[in-house]
Amino acid sequence: MSILQRLAQQQAQQQAQSPGQAQAGGAGFAEGPPAAAPPPTPPGAGGSAPGLPGLGDPGATGPLTLEPPAAAAPARPVRWELILQLLRRLAADSDPEAAAAGDALRARVRRTLDELLAEAGQTLARSERDDVVRQACYEIAGFGPIQPLLDDDGITEVMVNGPEDVFVERAGHIEPTDVRFRDHAHLLQTIHKIVAPLGRRIDESSPMVDARLPDGSRVNAIIPPLAVRGPALTVRKFSRQPLGIDDLVARGTLTPEIALLLRAAVGARLNAIVSGGTGSGKTTTLNVLSSFIGDSERIVTIEDAAELRLQQRHVVSLEARPANAEGHGRVAIRDLVINALRMRPDRIIVGEVRGGEALDMLQAMNTGHDGSLTTAHANSPRELLYRLETMVLLSGAELPARAIREQIASAIDLIVHQSRLRDGTRRVTHVTELVGMEGDTITLQDLFIYEQQGLEDHQRVRGRFRPTGVVPSFLPVLEARGQRLPQDLFWAETASAAGGM
Ligand SMILES: Nc1ncnc2c1ncn2[C@@H]1O[C@H](COP(=O)(O)OP(=O)(O)OP(=O)(O)O)[C@@H](O)[C@H]1O
Ligand SMILES: [Mg+2]
Repeated sequence: MSILQRLAQQQAQQQAQSPGQAQAGGAGFAEGPPAAAPPPTPPGAGGSAPGLPGLGDPGATGPLTLEPPAAAAPARPVRWELILQLLRRLAADSDPEAAAAGDALRARVRRTLDELLAEAGQTLARSERDDVVRQACYEIAGFGPIQPLLDDDGITEVMVNGPEDVFVERAGHIEPTDVRFRDHAHLLQTIHKIVAPLGRRIDESSPMVDARLPDGSRVNAIIPPLAVRGPALTVRKFSRQPLGIDDLVARGTLTPEIALLLRAAVGARLNAIVSGGTGSGKTTTLNVLSSFIGDSERIVTIEDAAELRLQQRHVVSLEARPANAEGHGRVAIRDLVINALRMRPDRIIVGEVRGGEALDMLQAMNTGHDGSLTTAHANSPRELLYRLETMVLLSGAELPARAIREQIASAIDLIVHQSRLRDGTRRVTHVTELVGMEGDTITLQDLFIYEQQGLEDHQRVRGRFRPTGVVPSFLPVLEARGQRLPQDLFWAETASAAGGM
């Protein structure tokens, strides 16, 4: 039987053991933060149209059913003056239909635009008129110029560096776009419009916001004086369908063999860390690893902005909180890890360790809370160890380096290191076992690696996954805990390993 078939069989068995797991809705995850009254529109957010239907109203920012712009049409300068006039006229309108959304809104905007044009004795080409209506609707019931990017399922990230600089990530590639804001004030106004319904504020005294949209997308906004060249906005879009293990295999992020090992490792309660650079897919892989946890285990997840979407029912999701405007009320990841230990967790999953919480996490892993999972930012498995050491020092614990390393070595069993390659693909480049200590040094042993072999057509990275031939020292633990792996998993180079993607 091939490894792929075995994987399918194991999946079927697991589903049979825990029916309902696949159907259970992401327990406790999708809700947004508690609704709070949006703060008043700040001064300086020029060009706003107070009283417009939908402005600042989270209910009105759902998907718009507007005609998408013609795909390959060359960018036309946006008629901001006309759009502003139109928005002002619509704001002043006391029409009972004023709160309309979707098609009704579009019809109303179109009618008002026709009135304006007729009064001014002007005409516009149909395509230009459509542009103006579309842009105005995005202003009223969406998040302004970036709304079509948010609606586009092919785009995974929207990055606004300034009014004239909007980039997106599409299929792993970063691309510039034609999207423009009117000016800094317009961009700032859009940022306010995004964060206000989330109960968050952003201004000079608190110029940074990390939040989550109701659909789960992660938003970061940072404005002057911290952002020197003007407001910057980053939206990591939430895919409607989170990637599963099959998707990671299909995308060539890992092989079925690696999938088998990871499933067994999580099932046998090994402690694992996913490491990698920014945007390399750590959280996505953590979510997939978490999906291997049984339905009967009590899982506590801890994140800055809740991104994980676990399908199990027995999940408690905790989210850290920044300080309020008066500087009070901060609840750090660290506090939540300590609290989680009192919640009788079977598994603790920390979205990302960045600071002192690393020590609490290691201690938890070393004191019976095995099977814990987390991610950390690092450029290689070895560098991850240095970073963890530094993080432990950030906790304020005055531990000698050797003691910290011993903590790390006895806590962590497995490192899954991931990279975003030059061609935009995400690959698990190392599956590495943390074997123990030799003298003062932690010993690492790669089990699987991804070898880059060059570029195809100067674009696509050519490479292959390769087992190193090393049988992990934790194999007996896996077997003792009922996780049997094929004998040849760690040395046989299969077609899937050689192919990559
Ligand atoms: N295996 C994958 N294949 C293709 N795209 C992926 C994969 N994993 C993640 N992505 C996409 O890459 C983007 C970043 O993913 P993710 O949030 O998991 O990365 P991250 O490493 O946790 O980022 P950060 O460093 O910002 O926390 C998302 O848009 C996600 O959909
Ligand atoms: Mg992440």
